[in-house]
Amino acid sequence: MAHINDNFLKLKAGYLFPEIGRRVKAYAAANPQAKVIRLGIGDVTEPLAPAVIAAMHKAVDEMARRETFHGYCDEQGYEFLRQAIAKHDYQARGCDITADEIFVSDGSKCDTGNFLEILGHDNVIAVTDPVYPVYVDTNVMAGNTGSAKASGEFEGLIYLPMTAENGFVPPQPAPGSKVDVIYLCSPNNPTGAVLSKTELTRWVQYAKQNDALILFDAAYHAFITDPSIPHSIYEIPGAREVAVEFRSFSKTAGFTGTRCAFTVVPKTVAGKAKDGSRVELHRLWMRRQTTKFNGVAYIVHRAAEAVYSPEGQKQVRATIDFYMENAAIIRRTLTELGIAAYGGTNAPYIWLKTPKGMKSWDFFDHLLTQCQVVGTPGSGFGAAGEGYFRISAFNSRANVEEAMQRLRAKLQA
Ligand code: MLT
Repeated sequence: MAHINDNFLKLKAGYLFPEIGRRVKAYAAANPQAKVIRLGIGDVTEPLAPAVIAAMHKAVDEMARRETFHGYCDEQGYEFLRQAIAKHDYQARGCDITADEIFVSDGSKCDTGNFLEILGHDNVIAVTDPVYPVYVDTNVMAGNTGSAKASGEFEGLIYLPMTAENGFVPPQPAPGSKVDVIYLCSPNNPTGAVLSKTELTRWVQYAKQNDALILFDAAYHAFITDPSIPHSIYEIPGAREVAVEFRSFSKTAGFTGTRCAFTVVPKTVAGKAKDGSRVELHRLWMRRQTTKFNGVAYIVHRAAEAVYSPEGQKQVRATIDFYMENAAIIRRTLTELGIAAYGGTNAPYIWLKTPKGMKSWDFFDHLLTQCQVVGTPGSGFGAAGEGYFRISAFNSRANVEEAMQRLRAKLQA
């Protein structure tokens, strides 16, 4: 009989969002008349921008003719898209990133997980708490942790608590506890908090002083409204030597079902081999991707490229502004209801303190059964998320307004 990867058995429950999906499905089956409003998983609801659709149609037509047909794509993704990303997302913001340091992929979730394949198993790994569960679960699957403790934390990981008291800014590891790999996410999923230039500079300095690697997830950068907040870690001097950045078109341009993302691996970031020599991570990631990944469809490349056209930028901006107005409505309602609410100003997520000290999953059940509104229990993002709850701003205006009306009716003190 084949042996399994026993590390999977350390994972206690199912992945958070399918678990929520199962509970909602069971509720909907038992209450077929209920109109459930889903503000749980951060999945976009608005259609793709017209400029994106036009580019896709054109690319489909190209695929229909021998002269313009495309087979396998270039190994890091087509240069036209990587050039557009380098120019608009990085060089325009003063970041020294070139097209050959960008790897186009089908998602940041897979990239953050897959990236562990090029890292060793002896690293001391730090994650924030709460945290996007993928960072933790993929480390568990890779065998980089011990077992789960009663709190839900995994042995062997360093947790950096983010609480209302510290403004949801992760504290640096205690002096003497040397960390090799740190996951940072800004704007943050789930808290909606952002790292300022000063805070990000402190992390880059920490990484340089400790020879650590930062895995920086900037999937929500497009939702930043405060002009002083960095969109990329490469806006910080020295980050090119210590950080890899993950970005996605999923939330920026509504590509959750279309699939396109990219990872930036500067040629100056290195890791240490067993013999002590320094090895470029770019070289290893290239080797990993060219062996295991066949790239993103040509049609999707053209769709993503259109996001950077003047009309694409305008249209995508309008949709982001729309979601951010939803976020403002949610946050305002919660505040008026006397519920402490955070985030939602530079991110599409609102992170709230559950009323009356309810446990996160109890509040989930309460909201589902009393208001037929779905959110995400904070404890699903880590032990420090217990007593918190996340509401996503991705939905139609009508649904967000109705959900808030229901909350007003049922949660009024
Ligand atoms: C979320 O709701 O946290 C996101 O949709 C997860 C993801 O992007 O994978």
